[in-house]
Order: sequence, then C-alpha cells, then structure tokens
Amino acid sequence: MIERLDALRAEGERALADAASAADLEAARVRFLGRKSELTGILRGLKDLTPDERTLVGARANQTRARLEALLAEAESRLEAASAPASSRDVTLPGRRPPVGHRHLIPSVLRELEEIFRRMGFAVAAGPDVEDDWHSFGALNMPKGHPARAATDTFYLQDDSIVLRPHTSSVQIRAMEISKPPLRIISPGRVYRNEAVDATHLFEFHQIEGLYVDENVSMADLKGTLDRFLKEFFGPKTELRFCPSYYPFVEPGAVVDIRCFFCGGKGCQVCGPLSGGWLEVLGAGMVHPNVFREVGYDPERWTGFAFGAGVERLIMLRHGVPDSRYFFANDIRFLTQF
Ligand code: PHE
Repeated sequence: MIERLDALRAEGERALADAASAADLEAARVRFLGRKSELTGILRGLKDLTPDERTLVGARANQTRARLEALLAEAESRLEAASAPASSRDVTLPGRRPPVGHRHLIPSVLRELEEIFRRMGFAVAAGPDVEDDWHSFGALNMPKGHPARAATDTFYLQDDSIVLRPHTSSVQIRAMEISKPPLRIISPGRVYRNEAVDATHLFEFHQIEGLYVDENVSMADLKGTLDRFLKEFFGPKTELRFCPSYYPFVEPGAVVDIRCFFCGGKGCQVCGPLSGGWLEVLGAGMVHPNVFREVGYDPERWTGFAFGAGVERLIMLRHGVPDSRYFFANDIRFLTQF
C-alpha cells in the first residue's frame, strides 16, 4: 500500500504540474484529492488496518495528501496570474510623479531682478543685515537726530548704535567704501522694520537697491534705467512717471509710479480711487553730495543715481497677490502657484 501511495503521489504531481487550464486542474483535483479518489479511499480504510499498519500507512497517506494539496494551491495561483485580463495591467500608463519642490517665489524673483540688471551692466553687491548706525543713517545724510530716521521704524540692537537694517541703502555705502568710481551695483536683500503686520506691511521684507556712479550721470540716465527695468519686469507696455519726493540721501528725489495695468489708469480696486490710476513702485533720486563726501568721493567730479524698491510689493502688483502675509506663511497651496 505504501508503494501504491508513492505511485499516486508521483502521478498527482505530474498531473498538477501539467495542468494548463482551470478544467485540467479541477480534473486532477477530483482524481487525486476528490471524495471518490483512491487516496481518500485509502484514508477512509485506515480504520480497518492493524494498528501497526495503520501507523505506517496513515503517515504516508497524510503526507501524500498534504503534498498534493500544496501543489494544487500553487497551480491555482499560477493559472490565475496567467489568465488575468490584459487590460488590468497597462504597462504604457505614465507613472505618478511624486511632487517635487521648487524655489520659493521671493528668491526666484530676486534672481530674475539680478538678471535684468546684469544685462544692463550692474554687478551684485551685498552687505550685512545687522548694520551699524553710520552705514544705515549717518553716511546717508541722516545725522543723529535727523527726523527721517524715525520714519523707518528701525529695530535697534544693543546701545542704539547697531540696527537691523531698515533699507538696503546701507549697501550703497558699503559698495562705495570698497571701490573707486565708476560704479554700477544692485543689492537685493532683507530689510527689517518695526511694523504691525497686515495685508501690506511685514516687519521683515526685501528690497532691491541700485547705485550708479560716474561722471556726468543725469536724471535721464536714471529714467532710462528704470524704464528698461520696469518694462522688463512688468511688460513692454509699462508706462512710468516721476513725482518729486524726499529722501535725505538723494537730491532731487522722486517716487516712481507705473500706470495701473489692471485698469489702464481709470482707477480700480488695485490702484485705488485716489491714485488717479498710478501705482507707486519705488523711490529714487540723484546721489546727494553729502553721501559722496562721507565715502571720500569728490562730489565736484562724481555724479550718480540711486533707487530702492520693495520686492514683495513688485511681486504683489505683477501677480495680483492680495496679502503680503502669504509670502511667509509657507502654505503649499500658495507656493505651488509660482
Ligand atoms: N531707501 C529708500 C526706502 O527704503 C528707498 C530709496 C533708495 C530711495 C534709494 C531713494 C534712493 O524707502
């Protein structure tokens, strides 16, 4: 009987391995493991054997059944995998891309601005965020006690002689200290002011400063440079105008407006009903002789212009960002739009 079991096992193994369809498999199952199969018959007949025979034959019969059942399960999954409909496995389907990060809006616009000015021959200069009184004010024609100092809401550190720079104009001074004229630099960077934060005010934001020093620099050079810059940044149809204004370190000084590109100058929500359709974008002017004197440039020989613009404001205008707090909230729904 043992020999018979081994023969059944070999036959069954072959039949299950050869099964090429569900029907083949079912036939093999019925034949080798079914209720009327020879193996089942032997298992049923164990009770009629002598105890010694029962131990021997029973063990071999159970092994045989276990082996064939395992092979049956294996053959079932093999056939199932092979017969799965082709459409459920479209290997031409494009993969799902994991989201990839990118540069934040502000540094990416800073690079864009640097490129615009690089094309006009400006080099990029930098200065420290923690600045001394002289570079922030004194050398910029704002001696101690000058009323314009109060207007900047400066954060003072230590004994009031060290500040978080309230504007990038301090870099004008740093650049002139280390180089002889002529000079053409821009300086993008962070500035700090003790402001209550709201939709149009941040206590920490960015400016881009420009400084051009040479012989015979005129207001026309300033206007031409800013016209080029604003047309590249806001579009070739951008119109600008100069309005007289006051900054201690320039004379004459001006604020520069662009015509509102939302309403074309009729007056709208963006430019407001009182602006007459103009949007203020930066401050500028001709470098004050006192500034040249402070850095040791001869004001009889050298002339120059300077300008400073708020970067967040430029971006808000160009992209219609309604609230400056979005820039630093790090909300991915905002950031992924740019
Ligand atoms: N520093 C000025 C400001 O922060 C801007 C400015 C720069 C004006 C250079 C004139 C010339 O508002």
